[in-house]
Amino acid sequence: MTGLARRDVIVAGAAALAGCASADAGRGARVRIGVASCADQDKPQPVWDAALAERPDFFVFAGDNVYASERPFDIARLRRAYDTQAQHANFERLRAAVPHLAIWDDHDFGLNDGGAAFEHKQASKDELLRFWRVAADDPRRAREGLYHAQWIERAGRRVQVIALDTRWFRSPLKVTDQRGAPGRERYLPDADPAKTMLGAAQWQWLEARLRESADVRVIVSSIQCVVEGHGWECWGNLPAERDRLYRLIRDSGARGVVVVSGDRHIGALYREAGGVLPHPLYEMTSSGVTHPWANAKEDGPNRMGPLVTVPHYGLVDIDFAAQRVALSLRGTTNQVLQAHRIGFDELGIT
Ligand SMILES: [Fe+2]
Repeated sequence: MTGLARRDVIVAGAAALAGCASADAGRGARVRIGVASCADQDKPQPVWDAALAERPDFFVFAGDNVYASERPFDIARLRRAYDTQAQHANFERLRAAVPHLAIWDDHDFGLNDGGAAFEHKQASKDELLRFWRVAADDPRRAREGLYHAQWIERAGRRVQVIALDTRWFRSPLKVTDQRGAPGRERYLPDADPAKTMLGAAQWQWLEARLRESADVRVIVSSIQCVVEGHGWECWGNLPAERDRLYRLIRDSGARGVVVVSGDRHIGALYREAGGVLPHPLYEMTSSGVTHPWANAKEDGPNRMGPLVTVPHYGLVDIDFAAQRVALSLRGTTNQVLQAHRIGFDELGIT
């Protein structure tokens, strides 16, 4: 943790929600992290009330936090989108009460499925930093991209949240030859070793983060990571880069890694194991604040359970006493739509 700014370490429970301090005190050695993405600023957003009621210690806004990607790009439209989003009182309550981290996906980056070549990315970044009130001396302002890490401490245990930027540096993707065909909807895997998902500087940064001490690590990737069986944007579009991520998890000795993602307008849980992965890698996609894809269907060779196609958010609930991580996708009345509990032993956490 050497060199960490104080603001990057959150002591869970120290900033309990107004009126919830006594209830929060009963949580013990648990850390609860909310995850949500894909929020159209012009649509109702009841999900935030449900999320706030669960009193998360931390919240991850995993991308497409507003929509402003029409072409041609218009920075005024992006600013209006953020201004409209700020009119949602329940969103503002959540944002004011819960320490949080925001990363972008394509629709708040400013270009549908956009990558490194997007010419307005700096202007979009400036708007994001303004809206999310990122401090003037924050390292994100002094480097390219928006990757960032924060730590949550509770009862002597440490959770690391690592948000990856899968837009700023990303190489062009290989466009499908059968648009819309199942498994080849938009993109095909591209084995070109010159192509990158994260870019050299972010890879180097990520390796340094993974070598730091932490009990549990939540890697935030706006696009899906471990998923197989579709041809939308995902790490599988650049399989050599995904292999590099898995090898880095192995070689860094990082344990307790789970992935959360967004982008897809569905919710789902996934599990990948074997190969170079030192322990099973679970992923929770939470992507449906306002407009989930009601008719979504796709092969899911490593998906656990059906797709969630109603409005939802996700929780990563880490219980250090019970030694388990619980992933759950929840609806607007906090009904559990999908859930899975993972023992610390399965994640290699000692
Ligand atoms: Fe997206």
